[in-house]
Amino acid sequence: MKQLLVVMAALLSLAIAADGRQLYSQNCAGCHGANGQGTAGVFPPLAGNPRVQHEAYVVKAIRQGISGPLEIGGQTYNGMMPAMPQISEADARAIAAYTSKLGGTPTAVSPEPTPIPTDPALAARGKALFLGQTRFQNGGAPCMACHTAGNFGPMGGGSLGRDLTDLHTRLGAAGIQGVLTSIAFPVMRESYKGKPLTPEEISALTAFFARTAGQPANNNQMDIARMLFAGLIGFGGLFGVMYLFWSNRRVGLAERIRSRRSA
Ligand code: HEC
Ligand code: HEC
Repeated sequence: MKQLLVVMAALLSLAIAADGRQLYSQNCAGCHGANGQGTAGVFPPLAGNPRVQHEAYVVKAIRQGISGPLEIGGQTYNGMMPAMPQISEADARAIAAYTSKLGGTPTAVSPEPTPIPTDPALAARGKALFLGQTRFQNGGAPCMACHTAGNFGPMGGGSLGRDLTDLHTRLGAAGIQGVLTSIAFPVMRESYKGKPLTPEEISALTAFFARTAGQPANNNQMDIARMLFAGLIGFGGLFGVMYLFWSNRRVGLAERIRSRRSA
């Protein structure tokens, strides 16, 4: 009986570990790498990372996200990991159990030699996808609905997500592909649920971001301020004209009423 229990416990822990591995590859591998090796300067390594030995730390990272400066394996990180509250506490613990066993040294591999797509036609396709001129195969919303990138004039794009002009400089091609493969930022995740980007679309977008990286950041705010200002002046002018017109009419109306009374 005791032996049976031991066997069952062993099987159970195996099942949990397997589960943890699967959950890891679904939710984390896109950014932290298949073996938790990370990407130097972009995604910290989890394998061999002493902080990852603490279950509570990992569970919190998963459920609440992490941002702000981190240092591990002689590298600094200052990125943004999205909160994933959709991963239950129990699943987060299974993932933590799995990541705590990932051996190795916490030295992140330098960005994988993902070739930076420089093909201008591919970048143009990425731009069209970003702007919504070309539809995503699986029907995801155009990025432009929530982000800006590069300078597309006064009404560049949405402001729900941040400006992505310097994305390529910050994350590199490997980082961009990680983020877009496992889309995890809450608002964005909802928007792409069941509508993943295809690898081809991801590489077109990466090529596009490689191009915008050299451009000056979007000065949307300035443009909007200028437009508002111009609008106010225009509005003020219009109002002035209307006032003159109206005050004339008012006199006219009063006179008409008076003249009607006297008539
Ligand atoms: C969209 C990319 C992305 C995904 C997906 C992601 N992470 Fe992260 N993770 C990051 C980034 C970026 C950081 C560094 C944040 C910082 O610099 O403060 C980070 C940091 C961490 C840390 C802290 C590491 C340290 O050295 O203190 C842990 C732990 C972690 N992630 C675990 C996970 C687990 C487990 C999953 C899957 C459930 C996951 N991450 C999914 C991007 C991601
Ligand atoms: C429904 C709105 C929405 C859509 C559509 C959307 N995003 Fe996002 N995205 C967000 C939000 C919100 C965040 C959270 C962080 C932020 O403020 O940028 C985010 C985060 C990101 C990040 C991580 C930011 C960083 O600096 O590390 C990248 C990269 C990104 N989005 C790229 C894209 C791309 C490419 C598309 C088009 C395929 C897209 N997004 C479509 C809302 C959206």
